[in-house]
Amino acid sequence: MTTLQSPTAEPSLDPDIALSVRGLVKRFPVKEGSFVRRTVGWVEAVSGIDFDVRRGTTMSLVGESGCGKSTTARCVLGLVAPDAGSILFRASPDDEVVDVRTANGSDLRTFRRQAQIVFQDPFASLNPRMTVEQIVAEPLVVHRIGNRSSRSERVRELLELVGLTPRHAARRPAQLSGGQQQRVGIARALALDPSLVVLDEPVSALDVSVQAQILNLLSDLQERLGLTYLFIAHDLSVVHHVSDDVAVMYLGRIVEQGPRDTVFTRPRHPYTQALLSAAPVPDPETERVRTRIILEGDLPSPSNPPSGCRFRTRCPVPDAEQLCASEVPTLRELEPGHRVACHHPQEVGDSVFFA
Ligand SMILES: Nc1ncnc2c1ncn2[C@@H]1O[C@H](COP(=O)(O)OP(=O)(O)OP(=O)(O)O)[C@@H](O)[C@H]1O
Ligand SMILES: [Mg+2]
Repeated sequence: MTTLQSPTAEPSLDPDIALSVRGLVKRFPVKEGSFVRRTVGWVEAVSGIDFDVRRGTTMSLVGESGCGKSTTARCVLGLVAPDAGSILFRASPDDEVVDVRTANGSDLRTFRRQAQIVFQDPFASLNPRMTVEQIVAEPLVVHRIGNRSSRSERVRELLELVGLTPRHAARRPAQLSGGQQQRVGIARALALDPSLVVLDEPVSALDVSVQAQILNLLSDLQERLGLTYLFIAHDLSVVHHVSDDVAVMYLGRIVEQGPRDTVFTRPRHPYTQALLSAAPVPDPETERVRTRIILEGDLPSPSNPPSGCRFRTRCPVPDAEQLCASEVPTLRELEPGHRVACHHPQEVGDSVFFA
């Protein structure tokens, strides 16, 4: 993990790191009242998370609904302002490091070209009144790149890149299948030739048969264009398919992170173990022998999370005790690159997912 220099120094990053997030915190006000809206509390959607995304690789954030994945993505892209923490980005080892929170002027414009997002619901994220051509060309128009004919040429190139053809250019989103719509969403994200793409549940709205095609397209594009992906998902088989590194989130915190195979075959946090134990596996023999860990109770409210370890109210570990209630477990490195935030990291049981 890279360390940051003091705040006064120029931010520094290892050349092989494209994105580095430290201590990221984001709170939202909870409002009440239909006429006069008063703030009655706060939801801490993201509570101090650290992660790096290595250049040209895929880092996945995985966790249940509401654990703060999209909020993290929006902070990373500068779409919402964090309350604390740092977000550093470097497009290539030859480029300057951009501090996303303080960037302005030309740095901010460059960052906005370099970092793009693909959303979960392709139909909702595409303007139904626009043609595919207009949708894909829009980032070029906004950034005043090229003229009408060069943009049209670029749109054709992008459509081919994502497996569509120029004849799709005149269609509107409603005339396309879900998979084709997501291809348009990807073409739009690639229009400005970004180096970082945030994929927020890019296949969860699609049929399973189409999911694999889109995931394969994304991995082809990554290889061809050298893209770095921050991938957000709750489906573990999707995460296993695409990731180099994985971070597991629970109620605004990262509870376990490391290389994909380490997290999938040697999970040490009881939450990761429970998630993996409950994920469907393709192999009936593995399904037969493994133990399913059922988590008791509901996800606590993010506006009133448990003290200490936020997972303790649902933790199946019998020796979860006083320490778990009083002290927030920090991420500790249990083996190179494998970090776990638990006072009682577990041995690997027979809950293993991809044995
Ligand atoms: N604009 C907002 N105003 C108030 N609360 C918000 C806002 N955006 C997110 N939240 C709250 O922050 C928490 C985290 O939300 P977030 O959307 O980041 O979760 P997520 O992990 O992306 O969930 P999902 O898997 O359902 O997309 C939730 O409790 C959510 O209700
Ligand atoms: Mg989300």
